[in-house]
Amino acid sequence: MKVLISDSLSEEGIKILEEQGLEVIYKPGLPYEELLDLIGEVEGLIIRSATKVTKEVIERAKKLRVIGRAGTGLDNVDLQAANEKGIVVMNVPGGNSLAAAEHALALLFALARKIPQAVASIKAGKWEKKKFIGVEVNNKVLGIIGLGRIGGIVAERALGLKMKVIAYDPFVTPEAAEKKGIELVSLEELFKRADFITIHTPLTKETYHLIDEKAFSLMKDGVYLINCARGGIVDEEALYKAMVSGKVAGAALDVFEKEPIDPDHPLLTLENFIGTPHLGASTVEAQKVVAVEIAKQVADYLTKGIIRNA
Ligand code: NAD
Ligand code: MLT
Repeated sequence: MKVLISDSLSEEGIKILEEQGLEVIYKPGLPYEELLDLIGEVEGLIIRSATKVTKEVIERAKKLRVIGRAGTGLDNVDLQAANEKGIVVMNVPGGNSLAAAEHALALLFALARKIPQAVASIKAGKWEKKKFIGVEVNNKVLGIIGLGRIGGIVAERALGLKMKVIAYDPFVTPEAAEKKGIELVSLEELFKRADFITIHTPLTKETYHLIDEKAFSLMKDGVYLINCARGGIVDEEALYKAMVSGKVAGAALDVFEKEPIDPDHPLLTLENFIGTPHLGASTVEAQKVVAVEIAKQVADYLTKGIIRNA
C-alpha cells in the first residue's frame, strides 16, 4: 500500500511507515495539480497545513482510505466529502500545542519590546536606543480568545509572567476558568479591557472575521494583537486600518487568510507589524511528536484496521 506525504514531515515518521511495509511517496510542497494526478494511486495521505484536500481531490481518490494530519487544524480538509466517501480523517490535536503556545508568547514579547524592528535596525548599522522603547507585560491584561489546549497553556504561562488573564470562550464555564486563575468574560468586555489580545480558536463560520472593524472599535487605544491560530479569524484589511489609525500599537500574525502571504500585502509595509510564516508548530520537538504519532495512526489503520486519534 502507498502513502503520499505532500507536506514536510520529520524523517522519524517516514521510517515508521516504511517499517510497517508501506511504500512512502514523499513530496513536500506538492503542487495542487500534481496532487490531483497522484491521489488516485494511494491508500494513505499525510499532510500539514499547506495541502488543500478539496472535494475535487477526494473525488479523484480511488483507493484512499485515510487522511492523516500531522498537526491540529483540519480546516484544510473537506471533511464532509471525506466522510461521504468513507475516508477516515485523523489528526494529532495536542502534539504541537506547547510549540504554538510558546510561539504566541514569543510574539507577545517581540511586540512588547519591538525585538524584530530593533534587530533589523542594528543589522543596518544603526544604534537607535531611543526609538525602541517598549512596554512591560507585568500587570497588563491579557485577553485570550479560545481557552482550549493552546489558549490554556498560554494562560498558565502568562500568569507566571504576572499578567492579569481574562478569556472569552463560549464552551468553558466561569468556574473551570476561575480554578485556573482566569476570569471568563464576554467578548465585548475582553475587547474593552485587554492590553494584549491573543487568538486561539479554530476557524469556523462563527470565528471568520471575528476580529473586524467593529471589534477594533471596541478595543483600547494602543492594544497589541497576536494571532497564532488561523488566518481568516482576523480581517486583515480592518487590522491594517486599525494599525494606521494608531488604535492598534502592534500586531503579530503567524497565520494569514492567504498562505503564503502576497509579498505586496499592505500589512508588510507597517513598521509595527510582525509576521511569521505559519511557524507555530515548527519546533524540532513538536514536529517529531506529530510525525511519529500520525505515522503510527495511519499505519495502524492501513495494516490492522485500528482507528486511533492521539
Ligand atoms: P482547541 O480545540 O483545544 O481549543 C479551541 C478553543 O476555542 C476551544 O476551547 C473552543 O471552545 C474555543 N472556541 C470555539 N469557538 C469559539 C468562539 N466562537 N469564540 C471563542 N472561543 C471559541 O484548539 P487548540 O489545539 O488550542 O488550537 C487552537 C487554534 O490554533 C486552532 O485554530 C489550531 O488550528 C491552531 N493551531 C495553529 C498552529 C500554528 O502553527 N500556528 C499550531 C497548532 C494549532
Ligand atoms: C496545526 O494546525 O497543527 C498547524 O497548522 C501547524 C502546522 O501543521 O504547521
